[in-house]
Amino acid sequence: MRLEWLSGKDPMTIPKISKIKELSGNQEAPQRLRLSQRPRRNRKSDALRRLVSETHLTPSNFVLPLFIMGGRENKQPVASMTGVYRWTTDLAVKKAREIYSAGVPAVALFPCIEEHLKDSEATEALNPNGLLQSTIKALKDAIPGLLVITDVAMDPYSSDGHDGLVRDAQILNDESLEILAAMAVSQAQAGADLVAPSDMMDGRIGFIRSALDDRGFQETGILSYAVKYASAFYGPFRDALDSAPKSGDKKTYQMDPANRREALREVKLDVCEGADIVMVKPALAYLDIITQVRAAVEVPVAAYNVSGEYAMIKAAAEKGWLDEKAAALEMLLSIKRAGADIVFSYFADDLTRLLS
Ligand code: PBG
Repeated sequence: MRLEWLSGKDPMTIPKISKIKELSGNQEAPQRLRLSQRPRRNRKSDALRRLVSETHLTPSNFVLPLFIMGGRENKQPVASMTGVYRWTTDLAVKKAREIYSAGVPAVALFPCIEEHLKDSEATEALNPNGLLQSTIKALKDAIPGLLVITDVAMDPYSSDGHDGLVRDAQILNDESLEILAAMAVSQAQAGADLVAPSDMMDGRIGFIRSALDDRGFQETGILSYAVKYASAFYGPFRDALDSAPKSGDKKTYQMDPANRREALREVKLDVCEGADIVMVKPALAYLDIITQVRAAVEVPVAAYNVSGEYAMIKAAAEKGWLDEKAAALEMLLSIKRAGADIVFSYFADDLTRLLS
């Protein structure tokens, strides 16, 4: 068997293994093929594997999503997300302090709004003393260094459960922008460091950027959910906030999972309109999109390891079908390897244990 293409300068003929044994007259003789390339040499010890590792998980690149609810000193488990809770503001501050000391620099807030406060125009979203605004203030007062990221979309506040304004079963684009921009300003006023529009209306990044600038919030950043697919993997999140659409689905604004070029179009528009960071969501079923987006723009790229991705691993681990820690780390690594600079993940709460 000729293996010249493997042997560099020194082409050789490699005898069959049985032949080596026969020639040496010794069944135990070590195999001594002269392979100039042996990739396994770089894997032979833990130290060497660490030395050549191409991708690293550090708490610094993680964002922990936090579900918040009204009340005091209370937490409610989210049934479809083992280990995830809805926190009252005081306990959310405690949790944030814990993960901030563990090196996670940011939280993303999602308010669970009582049904009687919801209406078709998401009025409660603009309440300066609302649950979200008061939690932003409490977090920034208690932990000034913590980055607070807020979601800009109507769904948690909307009696229709859609991200934009609904009229005659249509999700209105331009009319929604006014409400979304007012939400972003209200969040910036309360102290949010980055507002994160997740609504997928057209033109919202530019609209929100100028609304923020007009009111003196030049320093408030925009993290755009630029590429957000209409995904089945958001199911547990909608349970957590009770925010599923009351009718229809989100396919007229969130993207078709079949599309790749469209993702690049969305990302380029958002960067032109002023996005400081762009996000791809979900992460796991869209690693190819993360890679392409990373190559297409210069701004940092985030990826959202969504509720369903978390729930799959937790549920399988509970059944004893998967090693939770190993599977979670492998999933998070794959997202970073694909090109994400920043990862939103419910596993960020547990990162110290996972990385130990
Ligand atoms: C709301 C929003 C959703 C998520 C983040 N922001 C759900 C949706 O669009 O229906 C999903 C996050 C997750 O599944 O973890 N606009």
